[in-house]
Amino acid sequence: MLNTVQRQVVFIRKFFQSPRRIGAIAPSSSALAQEMVARARVRNAAAILEFGPGTGSFTRQIIACKSAAAPLLSIEADPGLTILLRKKFTSVAIAAGYAQNARRIMKAYGFPSPDCIVSGLPWSLFDSKTQQDILTEAKAVLKPGGYFATFAYIHALSFPEARAFRCLLQSNFPVFEISRIVWNNLPPAIVYCCRKEV
Ligand SMILES: C[S@@+](CC[C@H](N)C(=O)[O-])C[C@H]1O[C@@H](n2cnc3c(N)ncnc32)[C@H](O)[C@@H]1O
Repeated sequence: MLNTVQRQVVFIRKFFQSPRRIGAIAPSSSALAQEMVARARVRNAAAILEFGPGTGSFTRQIIACKSAAAPLLSIEADPGLTILLRKKFTSVAIAAGYAQNARRIMKAYGFPSPDCIVSGLPWSLFDSKTQQDILTEAKAVLKPGGYFATFAYIHALSFPEARAFRCLLQSNFPVFEISRIVWNNLPPAIVYCCRKEV
């Protein structure tokens, strides 16, 4: 099991290897992980899907909060991180692949429709077609009334790409919530939580 410093070293190394895929300079804090998991209503979920677990900050918090019977499937695009996550979280199904292919991956794992999706994906690095493809996939797999939680860094909220992504979330989901600012994260962030039609 990696300690916090080792996790940060892995994260920074991965960032320099593929900055356009990782999209953050430090692992998310446990304060941000707690806000994400609370907003996604992981505690009440019968099945949970995670996009872009990275080094597993959100994964750890999901495991701590979810019911023991609720399965978790995490989809990670970086093959090296996938290996690391499988060693670290032996009770979780870790799929090597892209969130855009969630339906196909879930089918391969025999995974049921999730009640919530917890996303660590670096949205600002995706073009608008990729963002929409992933949201389409998310809506297709979620149960009716299911929750989709993601986050945004506050220093970038006024950037055109960030504003466009927020509009995209609002146009894809009928319910859209924004959390308080989570200051204890590098950089500080807010959580967006969306709900699919019931
Ligand atoms: C910002 S990092 C996740 C941070 C995570 N919350 C943590 O603290 O470790 C984003 C992750 O998304 C993964 N990723 C990027 N594009 C992806 C995609 N299309 N599907 C699945 N994972 C993807 C990257 O490889 C990276 O591990």
